[in-house]
Amino acid sequence: MKVMGIVAGRHNGNSEILVKEALLACQEAGAEVTLVNLFDYNILPCTGCEGCTMSMGNVAMGKGDYTGCVLKDKDDVDALVTEMQKNNGLIIGVPTYDLMPSSIYTRFTHRFLAYELAFLLKIGKVKEDPHQVAGLIAVGGSCKDWQGLALDTMSATMFTQSTIVVDKFLSTRNGRPGNVLLKDDQIARAHKMGENIIKAIQTPVDQRTWLGDPDQGICPNCHSDLIMRGEEHWDGIKWPFECVVCGAGGDIQKDENGNFKFVLAPDGLCRDRNVNECRDKHLEEIMETRIHFMQNQGVAKEKMAKYKELKFPTVEIAK
Ligand SMILES: Cc1cc2nc3c(=O)[nH]c(=O)nc-3n(C[C@H](O)[C@H](O)[C@H](O)COP(=O)(O)O)c2cc1C
Repeated sequence: MKVMGIVAGRHNGNSEILVKEALLACQEAGAEVTLVNLFDYNILPCTGCEGCTMSMGNVAMGKGDYTGCVLKDKDDVDALVTEMQKNNGLIIGVPTYDLMPSSIYTRFTHRFLAYELAFLLKIGKVKEDPHQVAGLIAVGGSCKDWQGLALDTMSATMFTQSTIVVDKFLSTRNGRPGNVLLKDDQIARAHKMGENIIKAIQTPVDQRTWLGDPDQGICPNCHSDLIMRGEEHWDGIKWPFECVVCGAGGDIQKDENGNFKFVLAPDGLCRDRNVNECRDKHLEEIMETRIHFMQNQGVAKEKMAKYKELKFPTVEIAK
C-alpha cells in the first residue's frame, strides 16, 4: 500500500497538520507514505497550448507518438505526477482562499490533463491502473458559508486521474498556523480519513463505497453540494438538474419529511465523469468541436484579422 499526502498550505500550517495526522493512520496500518508540500516545487501554470490533447487525438488516430506536456522538462510537475500515479491512495489538504481551493493547488491540478490516466493506460505509458482512491480536506478560517466551492472544486480535480474520492471533510474556523491543534475533533477526523483510505485500498475495486460522513453533500453519487439546473448537452441529453461535479443527472424532490433530495434519473449516471468510458463521450464532443473548427478555419481566419490588429493600452511594468 502506497499513500501520498499532498499539501497546498503553509509549512506547519493547518492543512499540513491534518494531512500528517491522516498519513500517520496510514503508516500505522502498514502503508508506505510520502508527503509533498506544493510550495516546495516549481509548478508552472498550464499554458493552454492544447499540445497534449492535440497529440492524444493524433495518437488515437494512429499518427505519431504521444508528446506529453510542453512544460515537461521545465518544472517539477512531471516528476510529481509520475510519482503520484504510483500510489494507491492520496490524502490532499488545501486551504480555502475566496471560497475555493488555493491557486497553487489548481495550478498543479490543471496540469493533470497531459497525464490523463485512461489515455496513458491505453497507450501503455502507465503499465497498471493504480485504482487510486483519495481523501480530500479543505481547510478554512470560516464555516461552510465561506468555503462553499472548496471541497467540490477539489473533487473536480480528480477525474483526469480516475481517482475515486471515498472521503472528504471541511475543516472549519482555523486561521493562524496551528489553530487546528485546538480542535481535537478535527484531528481525530483526519486520523479517521487515513483509516478510511486504508480500508478503501484493502477493499476490492468493484466493492469500494463512500466512507465519509453519510450526510456529506446532496449528490448521492459523489457527495457534492453543487446541484445546478440542467441544460441540453451537445448530443441532446438533458435532465432537470445535474451535479456540477460528477455530472450525474436527475431531479430535486422533497421527501416525506420535507427535506430536499437529489434523485438520480434512470440514465442519470451515463455522464458520470468518474467513469473512464463516460469521459470518452466528452472526448467525442471535443473531437466534434475540433473537426467543425478545422472545416471552417477559413472563416475564422478572415474574422481573426480584425482582432489581431485591434490594440488597446496595456499596463507597462517598469523593470
Ligand atoms: C488570500 C486568502 C483568502 C482566504 N479566503 C478564505 C475564505 O474564503 N474562506 C475561509 O474560510 N478562509 C479563508 N482564508 C483563511 C485560510 O483558509 C486559513 O487561514 C487556513 O487555515 C490556511 O491554511 P494553512 O494553515 O494550511 O495554510 C483565506 C486566507 C487567505 C490567505
